[in-house]
Amino acid sequence: MKKLLIKGKKKLNGSISISGSKNATLPILAACIFAKDVKLSNVPFVKDISTMLELLKFIGMKIKILNKKKEILLKNSNKNINTLAPYKLVKTMRAGVLVLGPLLTKYKKAKISLPGGCAIGSRPVDLHLFAMKKLGAKIKIKNGYILAECKNGLIGNTIKFPSISVGATENAILAAFGAHGKTVLLNCSIEPEINDLILFLKKLGTKIQVSGRKIIIFGNSVSKEKIKHRVIFDRIEAGTYLIAGALTSKKITINKIQPEIIKYEIDILKRMGVKIFIGRNLVTITKARNLKKIDIITKPYPGFPTDLQAQLMVLMTQANGLSKIKENIFENRFMHVPELKRMGAKIQIKNKTAFVMGPTRLTGAEVMATDLRASVSLVLAGLIAENRTIVNRLYHLDRGYELLEKKLKKCKAEIQRV
Ligand code: UD1
Repeated sequence: MKKLLIKGKKKLNGSISISGSKNATLPILAACIFAKDVKLSNVPFVKDISTMLELLKFIGMKIKILNKKKEILLKNSNKNINTLAPYKLVKTMRAGVLVLGPLLTKYKKAKISLPGGCAIGSRPVDLHLFAMKKLGAKIKIKNGYILAECKNGLIGNTIKFPSISVGATENAILAAFGAHGKTVLLNCSIEPEINDLILFLKKLGTKIQVSGRKIIIFGNSVSKEKIKHRVIFDRIEAGTYLIAGALTSKKITINKIQPEIIKYEIDILKRMGVKIFIGRNLVTITKARNLKKIDIITKPYPGFPTDLQAQLMVLMTQANGLSKIKENIFENRFMHVPELKRMGAKIQIKNKTAFVMGPTRLTGAEVMATDLRASVSLVLAGLIAENRTIVNRLYHLDRGYELLEKKLKKCKAEIQRV
């Protein structure tokens, strides 16, 4: 099994280019089921993306991967289409369920494996199914599969989500793209990745209006012959390296980003005392001295992202006083805490809140985590810890961080995969 070896306490210096967003690419790939001929660029080649591509190939799409150019060419010739997403592909990556909306609305039926729970919580798909039913789908659950059909096609409707969900918003937008008439979605997620999906669908040929948490989709769209799309930058990767910079750097420049999209995260770091210079497509960050404590609650965008909670917690271990972080999105997203405590962090969990006492000296240890963001938080901790840290179970990191060691090594971190 591969591991990362990190020798801590190195001062990082240099620049890091941020990859395209995994969480934007996944729904856009599902949307390619509508498309005839697509060229996607700025694609991050991480494991979740290859799993989604495997699923699209299984469905019957033609795919060409241009690794060096970070591009993918996709074609749906509409012949031999399989409206099935099997368990073996959906179990490793929940976003597989995003093919439900496109398959159902385009081919009038779909059989999609239920993704099941995962390390960070039970993660149901009831809101996805609620939206499909509102659009007229008949849905049954049998042998672990969602069996969905709509003999006469889906029909536009007004749908108010009882709670905010990124995936359910995406699936509903995708289903509404092919539905008859207008769909009005209320109480939607408005993550930048959803905005990127909407941009893509507009290029494909539909009209979509967004106002606050309301999204209107004018359905029954006919896709254009050929389109090109460049995927938005990965704001979670950018936030992760910003925190790495705040922890360790003389000076790190994070480039290929749109700073206004991560202004809340930048503001939080500034409030903690980190010095950040904001340029047009970059930010520069230097290690903070006398970091201040802070209280955070994770929330849907534009609030603080749950996907950066574990990384920020590492910064909190270096701040003066008692910081608090309340995890409001997932019920079981503190798995990094016992591992950080083994490295010397002083953290207590009460209900949904972690109380982090700082500053503490972290010491290297052999650690592992059971999800993507928890794993990267252990890498960050390793960068500031004394001696050597060994991070196990790299398949979590590989699901979502492109060229992690290469990017850190370029900034003079001592990190290697063995
Ligand atoms: C997406 C992101 C993930 C991020 C999360 C929250 C992708 C591929 N993944 O996941 O990285 O952490 O948003 O920002 O984009 N829920 C229900 N019923 C449903 C769906 C969700 O109760 O049908 C609950 C979930 O259990 C969770 C909350 O809603 O408590 C938010 O989940 P959701 O926004 O759907 O997350 P994902 O789309 O799975």
